[in-house]
Amino acid sequence: MGMAAGRRLGLVAGAALLLATALAQEISRNPKADALNQPEVVRGRVLFQTNCAGCHGPNAGGGMGPNLLSSSLVRHDVKGDEISKLLQVGRLEKGMPAFPQLVGPQSEDIAAFVHARIDAGMRASALGASAFGGELNVGDAATGKVYFQQHCQTCHDPAGSFRGIASRHDPAELEGLMLAPKPGKPTGTVSLPGGGTVHGEVLHADAFTTTLRLPDGSMRDFAAGDGSRFTPDDPLRAHRDLLPGYTNVDIHNVFAYLETLR
Ligand code: HEC
Ligand code: HEC
Repeated sequence: MGMAAGRRLGLVAGAALLLATALAQEISRNPKADALNQPEVVRGRVLFQTNCAGCHGPNAGGGMGPNLLSSSLVRHDVKGDEISKLLQVGRLEKGMPAFPQLVGPQSEDIAAFVHARIDAGMRASALGASAFGGELNVGDAATGKVYFQQHCQTCHDPAGSFRGIASRHDPAELEGLMLAPKPGKPTGTVSLPGGGTVHGEVLHADAFTTTLRLPDGSMRDFAAGDGSRFTPDDPLRAHRDLLPGYTNVDIHNVFAYLETLR
């Protein structure tokens, strides 16, 4: 992220507009260049953000896991053949988990995304630019705003916590967060043996005891032995449920809108 953040400071402020325009023109001139909008690439991007980006970075450019854009395994991959072999077993001893559940059409989509990223990187450098930001931002912000009001605003206030969100994250990172947000503080509910429930921030939970911080700031312990039952909240559930409903156009439009929140 360090490099991307540096690029943001140096480049995105002024030149992103130019870059976006240049790439948008290049995309409309050359339909083949529109690879990032192919349905399998968009599906692959969502899968990648959810399962891989945490280690390989939102654009596959590397994080605690290696850069996949320069990986020889990926360069040898044809339609997911090498990638799915790796996902089947992982390299557990080296920190690469196995994802057998993604083998098949899903690993083909992930491969399509990574290959499209490689192509996009080559195109961007051919245009003399290296940031992905402008290229991601090809949607229509006004349409995205309407979509946001309908699907997102119940949880996210553009005048509140989302104010200035595009200034806090570089474009690739923001798109990653939009598709696969990091959970906030864990919360949950304890059902009391005598009936009724208590909801709060989870400070501790194991098989025997749960400690919650209640909305008034006080802390309270609950013992399973007394018949209390603890259920953690799943705050990102709504996000996961949204994903299958996003079309590739929605993603671009909402993202273009988020980029206006500076
Ligand atoms: C918990 C971190 C983590 C996650 C999550 C993860 N990876 Fe990895 N991945 C790694 C590490 C670490 C390596 C390097 C293993 C090694 O040194 O051989 C690696 C290696 C790879 C390689 C081989 C690169 C090469 O040239 O050898 C590919 C391809 C890859 N990962 C794809 C994926 C995909 C696709 C996903 C998501 C479905 C994913 N990874 C999820 C950590 C992760
Ligand atoms: C039911 C509630 C809910 C809905 C609806 C929802 N989100 Fe979220 N969103 C969350 C939660 C919870 C987080 C995790 C971070 C937090 O607690 O704020 C989050 C995080 C995010 C983040 C990362 C914020 C950051 O600063 O890390 C983005 C971006 C985002 N959502 C975009 C969207 C978009 C775009 C939509 C609509 C298409 C949407 N969300 C709909 C609950 C929701």
